[in-house]
Amino acid sequence: MPPTSSAPEFVLARSEDAPLDPPALYAQLREEQPVIRVSLGEGRVSPWLVTRWEDARTVLGSPAFSTDPTHPGAPNFKEGQLPGPRGFFQSYDDPIHATMRRTLTREFMVKRVDALRPGIARLTDELLSDLTKLPGSVDLVEHFSLPLPSLVICELLGVPYADHTFFQEQSKILVDGKATAQESNRAFASLGEYLLGLVRTKRATPGDDVITRLAAQADEGIITDQDAADLGAFLLFAGHETTANMIALSTVTLLQNPDQIPYLLGGPDQVAVAVEELLRYLSIVHFGLRRTALEEVTVGGVTIRAGEGVIISINVANRDPEFFTAPDGLDLTRTNARQHLAFGYGIHQCLGQPLARAELQIALPELFRRLSELKIAVPAEEIAFKQDTAVYGIHELPVTW
Ligand code: HEM
Repeated sequence: MPPTSSAPEFVLARSEDAPLDPPALYAQLREEQPVIRVSLGEGRVSPWLVTRWEDARTVLGSPAFSTDPTHPGAPNFKEGQLPGPRGFFQSYDDPIHATMRRTLTREFMVKRVDALRPGIARLTDELLSDLTKLPGSVDLVEHFSLPLPSLVICELLGVPYADHTFFQEQSKILVDGKATAQESNRAFASLGEYLLGLVRTKRATPGDDVITRLAAQADEGIITDQDAADLGAFLLFAGHETTANMIALSTVTLLQNPDQIPYLLGGPDQVAVAVEELLRYLSIVHFGLRRTALEEVTVGGVTIRAGEGVIISINVANRDPEFFTAPDGLDLTRTNARQHLAFGYGIHQCLGQPLARAELQIALPELFRRLSELKIAVPAEEIAFKQDTAVYGIHELPVTW
């Protein structure tokens, strides 16, 4: 392919022949024009697209870039996007970001999350036992990959799982590329309203859960009740859709690379490396991380001016051959897989990563151990991949075993 002259489009759909790979054009850009202006569509800003691993880390690790979507040049996912309440702290810079994040850091410390592992194993076991009682082909998304992280985050937060249809619907709107900004803003608001009711309930009847502890921080004046509610809403949203998609996509990936499955069934260290490689290979945040430059910065030899938007394509960066050997292949023994950017990098690096790791390290080996004859029940070309959502995934995955 010749070098690209006019601004390429972002985001292109993935090829039907290679639905687990980023679009080929972006891999070409990474080699030839690793920092290049892209088009988000008619009448919208033309941000820079960053596709190399090293440049991605430079931008994500630099205080010269903001996540605030209200900057005029911000490369927003949706036109007219509001930042959401400050409890959705990913869209805020420090000090608000740091203040909000600090209220939750203890909840996601590795030691704390390790204590949740037996509960995650129990839920995995129950879901798989129920699934195997169902006749014929079964949708793995409906019966395993979506309920598992939803149940886990509900238990952790103290949210009744019985309300899952409501919060799963709102979360879907938040990642839906076709939903309008107004619809997204309404989804933020209704999640926040729902959680505000729960904050008040927990204050009256405390439990051993995150919402109760956030209500206590509100009592101490560290945050407001609405912050406590919005922080809970953010976790509820961030905590299930992502991991659910990782489980479903990992299942397809492993079934397409059956020689790799034994590495997933090894000891805990081997499983940990295998999960990092799946995170690298799949890098599900496929609409990229979005920033705006607050001052002039040079990235990959290109000058980015104050006020200009930048999209960091972490899925393309995680396939950078300068950093990962044979990056388009799945190698569950890859020693530097953990250097991936699937959880981001810098101050906004995923807060929930110890939990996501624990869920994947428990759910994936158990799925393949219990269902040793696991197969996808439809031809590969009929698998419905999520092209239009900020988080890549699969709508339905019919399986037999
Ligand atoms: C495999 C699953 C997951 C993936 C791939 C993922 C990915 C990411 C990425 C890339 C970011 C950085 C966004 C940015 O820099 O703009 C992020 C931030 C975040 N994630 Fe995750 N995530 C996952 C699971 C979770 C879970 C389970 C939770 C919570 C229970 C969670 C909570 C958060 C929060 C609160 C932030 C914002 C952090 C901040 O701005 O300081 N994530 N995640």
